[in-house]
Amino acid sequence: MLIPREKISEILNTSDIVDIISERVILKKSGLNHFGLCPFHSEKTPSFSVSSQKQIFHCFGCNTGGNVFSFLMKYHKISFPEAVKMVAARYNIKIKITSISPEVRKVLNFKEGLFKLNNKVMEYYCQNFLKSKKAVNAQKYLKKRGITRETIILFNIGYSEKSWDALSFFLRKIKFDNNIIEKSGLVIPRKKGNSYYDRFRDRIMFPIHDINMQATGFGGRVMDDSMPKYLNSPETPVYSKSRILYGLHISKQYCRQKDLVYIVEGYFDFLSLYQHKIKNVVASLGTALTTEHVRLLKGYASKMVLVFDSDDAGINASKKSINTFIKEGIEVKILILPRGYDPDSFIFKYGKQSFEEIAGRAMAIIPFLTETAIEKYDLSVEGKINILNEMKPHLAQIKDNVARSLYIKELSHRLDIDEKAVLEKVRQEHAKYLGQKTNIQFNKQPLKKSNTDNISDRREMQILSIMLQYPGVITQIKKRNILSFFYSKRLRKIGELIEEFENFDEIVIADIIARAQSNEDRELIAYLSMMEIPETHNILEKSIFLMNRIIKIKNESENILMNKIKKAQQASDFELSFELLRQKKKEIQKFRGYE
Ligand code: CTP
Ligand code: MN
Repeated sequence: MLIPREKISEILNTSDIVDIISERVILKKSGLNHFGLCPFHSEKTPSFSVSSQKQIFHCFGCNTGGNVFSFLMKYHKISFPEAVKMVAARYNIKIKITSISPEVRKVLNFKEGLFKLNNKVMEYYCQNFLKSKKAVNAQKYLKKRGITRETIILFNIGYSEKSWDALSFFLRKIKFDNNIIEKSGLVIPRKKGNSYYDRFRDRIMFPIHDINMQATGFGGRVMDDSMPKYLNSPETPVYSKSRILYGLHISKQYCRQKDLVYIVEGYFDFLSLYQHKIKNVVASLGTALTTEHVRLLKGYASKMVLVFDSDDAGINASKKSINTFIKEGIEVKILILPRGYDPDSFIFKYGKQSFEEIAGRAMAIIPFLTETAIEKYDLSVEGKINILNEMKPHLAQIKDNVARSLYIKELSHRLDIDEKAVLEKVRQEHAKYLGQKTNIQFNKQPLKKSNTDNISDRREMQILSIMLQYPGVITQIKKRNILSFFYSKRLRKIGELIEEFENFDEIVIADIIARAQSNEDRELIAYLSMMEIPETHNILEKSIFLMNRIIKIKNESENILMNKIKKAQQASDFELSFELLRQKKKEIQKFRGYE
């Protein structure tokens, strides 16, 4: 363990997993637990549960689970020490990581360094914009585009001056590690010598934040017609286009309030809507939305509206994103603006009310696709065949049978084709899709894959489950030394983690999870802690019954083998007795967990 165990316990005791998760997933209380849509797999009905009492989460759909650290690790794709630091920072707990290994230290320092550097650079660009004489054009430009000082400050907009090395010089002055400077992508090494030149020159700078408010990268716009219009940070260990949405760090609270998010393409689209008091908005920055984007967003709103320009590029961009929404089961609506407008120019011309009016008429995916396909082809026989071919992969991706058949009905109606013919086309496509899907899901079952279909494992799991959920009976269980009768080495180890606790009345499941060796074990412990135990009217009786079975079966199988050996020896069949003894030895080794 890299961080002292007591520190981890302290953090677990101070923090509240419900707080941390509900900042990222919409949770509703139901009975003892909180439920929400799982951020780790696609689902329409909530099977992701968080227990405030046990301080753990578990998804009954995909079996992901663990304590608050496991959640953050998986959600932010970060390491254990990073997750611990994140929670510690959230609750103002100071931690010193002393015995950390050099490699882990290096990775941690590296990412932290990148964040620090980005934040420093952000301040630098902001100060440039606000104070430097050289920024006059930039100031004029934003003014012309209607962006107020308040917005500039809230979103930390800045200016990179017209120079090849102003930023490089600044970075050298504040003494950052060269390796970090280079990896940030904000400067580029010169071919000759060991100096750098600035990536962004004479551009309006937009920092791109993650939901923890850290600057992860930048986008920069020219102020005239030169190309490229926008330049972005390259992918770095802290900046990934496919995971980040512009503005969400500020807009997330408003998305929650309205349970609705508008997804626009550009920086100015975002800023203009925000300034016009449509604050529940994010910008995709010109890329097609990924599964990660959609899963991130569904933590803040259940309704989503894609807002795109009416040009072909806009329509194509929204089409690229559509399958992601269908796969994730999100009923996104699509708002195509009047010809010639993007969200930015529309809101400046017509205002908030008009925007909300047309947003109210946004189309659902399938009608939208149908209408654009009809516009592209026509309603001739050939046109209809083309339309159908274009529509069938989208229809096939809809998992919900009722929704799919309703859309098929609607489409056949609109095209005036026999419903059965449409259905048949989609069915062929759907079969392909189902084949792919089941494979993926099978691989994702961590519990089924391990040896839990075994009856003895099931009993052993029930014992552990009782220990975790009814710590009052642990003393009784420990007395019978039941773990030594376990067949599964993995389950026995987990049992030992529980028995290690000094005071069973104060057992903290999240703490046991922190002590587990592997991610699979952490998920298993979370599962066992949430697993329903059948016939639980008398828990002590139930555990005694289970223990008796486990011991009896163990003894029986040993007796059968012993008898066989005795018989073989009596019959002087030394070859057989030798073989059986070997078997027994193997059995014992397996039982002790030596294999
Ligand atoms: N974009 C990009 N690189 C480009 C062009 C566009 O990264 N060369 C991204 C930017 O995030 C941009 C978004 O795609 O904001 C939408 O592009 P576009 O519609 O061309 O620009 P606008 O946002 O309308 O920009 P502006 O209003 O400033 O002209
Ligand atoms: Mn624009």
